[in-house]
Amino acid sequence: MSLDITAVEKGKPVEFKNPDLAFYEAVGGEEGMRQLMYNFYDKIYESDIAHFFPQDEDEFNEIKVKNTKFFIQICGGPKVYEDEAKGMDLNEYMVRLHDDFSIYEKSRIEWLGTMREALEELEGVDKTLVEDFWSYLENFSKLTVNTFSDGSTYYANL
Ligand code: HEM
Repeated sequence: MSLDITAVEKGKPVEFKNPDLAFYEAVGGEEGMRQLMYNFYDKIYESDIAHFFPQDEDEFNEIKVKNTKFFIQICGGPKVYEDEAKGMDLNEYMVRLHDDFSIYEKSRIEWLGTMREALEELEGVDKTLVEDFWSYLENFSKLTVNTFSDGSTYYANL
């Protein structure tokens, strides 16, 4: 399975496609997605980017729940995140939500590396579907990077 990471380039347009509904079905729908995302967030809690997230357990759990809903909807499942996004396009809302944090390329690589670990633990999901899901994450995550090592910032518009 090739789950590679390509570098973000400040200001360079990012192209991505939402994940295939077949991935959502293959992981086992809402419940499968919940298990994948909770596993991911348990790993985030132990990662180098844990400090970005609330340390309070209840608040952290709330993020797990919202995150799971987002991924259910972005994969083409039921529109369970609709209300959170306040009518905005889901991806656009996500970019704006991440603007509140100073995210470096290094943070993105840690986030993706953590997600890769969770994806590698999935059983019985066709590798081409995992790669399709990865392609969305790998590309879209470039839009969450807004802070650069030379001290500059860049908030991409979709
Ligand atoms: C493919 C890329 C990414 C996607 C799709 C994504 C998705 C999400 C979602 C759905 C939420 C919950 C939103 C809500 O509260 O309703 C969230 C929150 C968050 N994400 Fe991401 N994320 C991505 C990349 C990253 C990266 C690279 C970082 C780097 C540190 C990051 C840090 C955070 C933080 C700090 C929060 C919110 C915590 C809080 O509300 O206190 N995310 N993300």
